[in-house]
Amino acid sequence: MSGELSPIDKAKFVAAKRASEYVESGMRVGLGTGSTAAWLVRCLGEMVRDDGLKITGVPTSTRTAALARDVGIKVASLDEAKWLDVTIDGADEFDGDLNLIKGGGGALLQEKIVATASDRMVVIADVGKEVENLGNFPLPVEVIPFGWQTTQALIEETLVSMDVLGRSSSLRMNNDAPFVTDEGNHILDLHLNRIGNARQLALVLNQMPGVVENGLFIDICDSVVIGYGDGRVEVRDINAGTVETDKLDFVESDNLFADLND
Ligand code: 5RP
Repeated sequence: MSGELSPIDKAKFVAAKRASEYVESGMRVGLGTGSTAAWLVRCLGEMVRDDGLKITGVPTSTRTAALARDVGIKVASLDEAKWLDVTIDGADEFDGDLNLIKGGGGALLQEKIVATASDRMVVIADVGKEVENLGNFPLPVEVIPFGWQTTQALIEETLVSMDVLGRSSSLRMNNDAPFVTDEGNHILDLHLNRIGNARQLALVLNQMPGVVENGLFIDICDSVVIGYGDGRVEVRDINAGTVETDKLDFVESDNLFADLND
């Protein structure tokens, strides 16, 4: 099956595989959303099945919950689990301080709540997600449907006084209808190109009526596992200030790679 996986998928897989080493029996684990997080869920499912790993997974979306159940991971809500040992999730961008843009998959609200309720957040990403400055990826902002156009106008007006390069925004669509999050909200994608002060922007956005949450994750991520298409991984820990490199043997097992749809 090796020929069927693109280098970027291999990079996502090795990042997920390496991050699965953070997970031990007895842990309560936040399970992220997106294609990289889906690899992680598959890896953990394999460990549950083959190695007797016993964990409770707290998914960050209905999609991840379905996949986790599918691969045999015991699933609980955050309120049942209360506090988590680790959350492992993907990201749309990360910078040198491990601040993130998330929400490309529309799950930023649950992702931020779950990551914040964890002893440790580990991001898994292919090397293409690393940026010098956040903001090239459109910043997702979850807004309630009521008055969303007014909220959008308020956001755009406020951006005039913020340190950003672009100020337009668009309502995320799902075919012909507005995209609806697991919480029944909409997403506005802000086309900022470059965010000069992400911390300030995150605070200002969350002050606005109608805004539920924004996709800037500031001081939440503890480490990042960066995957490369040739099997190399780099693990950066922001608290310890360490950087480790490794190379994983890329062995594709039919179980793990069969019908991964996310
Ligand atoms: C979902 C997210 C994802 O983590 C982010 O979009 C990265 O996704 P992928 O691993 O598919 O590139 O924030 O809301």
